Amino acid sequence: MGSQSGDISSALKEALASLGTAESPEAVRSIVSQAVGKKGSLGALKSSLGSIADIEQRKQVGAAINAAMTELTHAADARISEMSTAELLSNIERDRVDVTERALKSEVAARLGRTHLVTQATERLEDVFIGLGFQIAEGPEIESDFYNFEALNMPPSHPARSMWDTLFINQDPQGSVLLRTHTSPVQVRVMQEWPPPIYAIMPGRVFRRDTPDATHMPVFHQIEGMVIDRNITFSDLAGTIEAFTKAFFGSEFTSRLRPSYFPFTEPSAEFDIRRPDGSWIELGGCGMMHPRVIRAGGLDPDEWSGFAFGFGIDRMAKERHGVADLRDMYSNDVRFLEQFA
Ligand code: DAH
Repeated sequence: MGSQSGDISSALKEALASLGTAESPEAVRSIVSQAVGKKGSLGALKSSLGSIADIEQRKQVGAAINAAMTELTHAADARISEMSTAELLSNIERDRVDVTERALKSEVAARLGRTHLVTQATERLEDVFIGLGFQIAEGPEIESDFYNFEALNMPPSHPARSMWDTLFINQDPQGSVLLRTHTSPVQVRVMQEWPPPIYAIMPGRVFRRDTPDATHMPVFHQIEGMVIDRNITFSDLAGTIEAFTKAFFGSEFTSRLRPSYFPFTEPSAEFDIRRPDGSWIELGGCGMMHPRVIRAGGLDPDEWSGFAFGFGIDRMAKERHGVADLRDMYSNDVRFLEQFA
């Protein structure tokens, strides 16, 4: 089979060489099919087998051609799998994501967030009252009817309950659990937990069934203040409000109290702040703590007396920064929020 054997091995060599330079699985497959096809180098040799007269020799040459074809096919398969591995690796490299934390470079640090307007106002209020000797207390946002109303001298069906549009939690017995409508319930919780005398402020989130508009939000913030001590009088209340006004707004501001009504204070008042230009801002409510509230807190109203006050923080922040619409403060729009460093 002398000359045929040389033809077979050179045809195989040639086909294998072009496999090495093929760049896609399609190219590999077409090299194989060309080589083994009727007109291909190996295929043509196979077709010409019939012209070999010697049966033994024909068998040998046939077997050599088949072996060459098998070798070519295996080499092609190996080449294709090599290609798909390479493709996979390059896809992995292309799609890789660097999840390692970046060191805080200055340009990254410059884009760090900052506290919200309302948080800023709360922190300033806390600073002022801490300076006046108060401590900070917090209470739950989901509150019982007892703390939100009853302990504040509003028994079931008390008409004053309608001063607060209440959101109730759907839990039996219905009406017993609610989202606190003000921070006043924390007064009672603090009296139950802290030994008197007590000088406390209680900031927090409160909830009312209100449609959002420029001056109302169904979720907003209040700060409550309470003093429980011996022989506390109305002039202590007025003096504290005045001291707070000057410390928070500036010495050119003054305060005034107007008679009002709250079930948990007697007498009750509303307090206003006077701007240097002579205009007034309504700020909140206050009064001498009602003896029933002191008793609900577990203290003896003959021994202890006190005053309390409460006002909205969001409106103070709105006022201070000249924000036209409260809703902007809660739209999470960084273009708005970024203005208040
Ligand atoms: N809790 C009242 C409200 O939400 C505000 C208030 C009034 C709080 C008088 C007080 C107070 O502590 O004494 O409208």
